[in-house]
This record gives sequence, structure tokens and C-alpha cells, in this order.
Amino acid sequence: MNHKFSALLLNWYDQQGRKNLPWREKITPYRVWISEIMLQQTQVKTVIPYFQRFLARFPSITDLAAASEDEVLSLWTGLGYYARARNLHHAAKQIVTQYSGEFPNTLAALQSLSGIGKSTAGAILAIAFQQKATILDGNVKRVLSRVYALEKNTTDADLLSQLWEVATQQTPEKRADDYAQAMMDLGATICKRGKPSCELCPVGLTCVANLQDRQSEFPAKKTKKNMPTRSVQLLILHDIQSQQVFLQKRPPTGIWGGLWSFPECLMDEDPAKWCEKNLGLRIKNMASWSSFKHVFTHFQLTITPIYIDRFEYKKNVMDIQQSVWYTLKKSADRGFPTPVKRLLEILQGV
Ligand code: ADE
Repeated sequence: MNHKFSALLLNWYDQQGRKNLPWREKITPYRVWISEIMLQQTQVKTVIPYFQRFLARFPSITDLAAASEDEVLSLWTGLGYYARARNLHHAAKQIVTQYSGEFPNTLAALQSLSGIGKSTAGAILAIAFQQKATILDGNVKRVLSRVYALEKNTTDADLLSQLWEVATQQTPEKRADDYAQAMMDLGATICKRGKPSCELCPVGLTCVANLQDRQSEFPAKKTKKNMPTRSVQLLILHDIQSQQVFLQKRPPTGIWGGLWSFPECLMDEDPAKWCEKNLGLRIKNMASWSSFKHVFTHFQLTITPIYIDRFEYKKNVMDIQQSVWYTLKKSADRGFPTPVKRLLEILQGV
């Protein structure tokens, strides 16, 4: 199937491919890398403005390596999966120190960098270095599992190695760069998760799932688990006079690692007691705002903001490490989780 499949796909890409995506212009390893990381688990239309802002602020690897983590995270606010930004920043430093700022061009060297797995390394090699290399992201997995009607295997690892095998076989000797982009376009625009447009598909006649009308069976579903729920109270300490709120930098790992957030306490804790014990504040007035949900990949977080606008110091909270009284009028100079950003906007009266 190899030759015919890639020829049909490349022909389609020449006519229908999304040529005007910003990372498909002025191709450099750096631009391809940033775009591939941003595009992991995130849609093209969401990524475009982030990509443009990021490249405007950090035009080169050296600019990125020299930046502060807070600034890198500030440009990532709203994109989610913040470990991607921290890894990107770390990898930029690795490239500067270990490779004199020159992007490496082998699979092994690329995979030794933070945040670059086999598929992203393949995308960089194919698209930026025009090598024959293979990608296997979520889009490509969906396309191939339909084309070959790959059933769920005894283990997920088995299925993954089968997918890599067929993905590698299908990759053409020439134009592996266009082929990689074409597979991603096919997955995003035709071979969609919910309702694939098989009547428009250039490889529809080579696709077992289409021929057997079994598209919805692929990719084989993971066993569904109920999404766990957690609940927290976010404590919004608002100093009305200075128009500042109290924020803490979260530890580098775990959810929202390295981002700035309000202090939080468990639902069954009394916020006033928590503030007294942990921040040395005596609370004089507080109000509970409506709870709302924030969905992560593996769990759902119910957030109850506790708005506190009258308090007095028992000891100086500024002594607490990695914390700041943040002026609401300032433009963002650090990374915030999306729900925190939304709460800051409410407080700013936006
Ligand atoms: N998804 C992952 N990489 C992509 C790319 N280069 N173009 C479009 N969508 C993508």
C-alpha cells in the first residue's frame, strides 16, 4: 500500500493542504519545534496566536534560553499542559550549552532534550531537516488505526508498536516533510474523531474502516474510567487600598507547576483558620463566591473562590517564600492558570 497511499495523500496535500499556517512559512528547526510542542493536545486555531506572540518575544533559541521561567510561562497562560513550557525552556538551555545553540538533527539527540518524544523528534527531522522520519501523534494514530482497522491489542504497548510499524512503512522516501504535514491535515480536517468526511478522503478506498463502514470503532476506545473530582477553596486576599492580591508560586511539579496562583485550602478547612496558621493573617471579612469547574485530562477540579477583603497582619506575609502582593492593574508578567487569570480579570473589573 505504501507507494500508492503516500502518492494519493501528497497529491491531496498539494491541492488541499493548509499551506498558510504560520509555522509552515519560514521553516527553521526552532519554529518547527515550538509549533510541534504547542500543537500537542491543542488545536491549530488555538495555537496560532500563541505561536505568533511567542516567536515575536523569543525569536531565537538563545532568546528563549536567556528568558526567565516566569516570562515563558506568561506566554503560555491559557494553553494548558504547562510542563510543555517548562520543558521547552529547559531544552533551549540544553541546546545552548550542549550544542552551542545549533539544533541537533538526529533522532537520538533530539529525544535527549526535555519534552521531545519520538513523534516530535520525527516531526522536526522530517519538516525542518527534510529527513525521512516518521510522526505518530494523535491525528496520525487515528488515521492509521482506521486505514488498517487496528483493533485494541492485549496491551496498549502492542497497539502502539503496531502503529509505529505501519507509520514507518507508509512514510515515503521523498517529501517526508509534506507527508508528515499531510497526515496531520488529513486527521484534523477529514479523518475527524466524531464524523469523518470519508467521501472527501483521498485514501478512502484504501481504508479498511471506511470500506467496512466501521469508522466509529477506531481508534479502539480506552476503557472508560469515571473522572475523579477534587475540590479546593482559592483564597483571594484583596488589599483594597493598594489594589493588590496575594499570590504564591506553585511548586515546579504537579498541576500548574511554576504558575502563580491564590493560596488554596481543602474544602473542609476553615479559610480564616488556614490564613491565621499559614499566613499569619487575622480575617475580618470574607465571602464565598460561586463555585465553578475546571477540567484537566485526568480529573475535574471544583473551585470555590473565597474573597477576603478585610484582614490584619499578625506577622508579615511577605516573609513567605515565593509569594508576592500582585498589583491588579499590571499587565501579566508571569504565568497564571486559566481559572486564576479569569479571577484576576474579574477583580480588575474587565
Ligand atoms: N499538529 C501537530 N503538528 C502539526 C503541524 N505541523 N501542522 C498542523 N497540525 C499539527
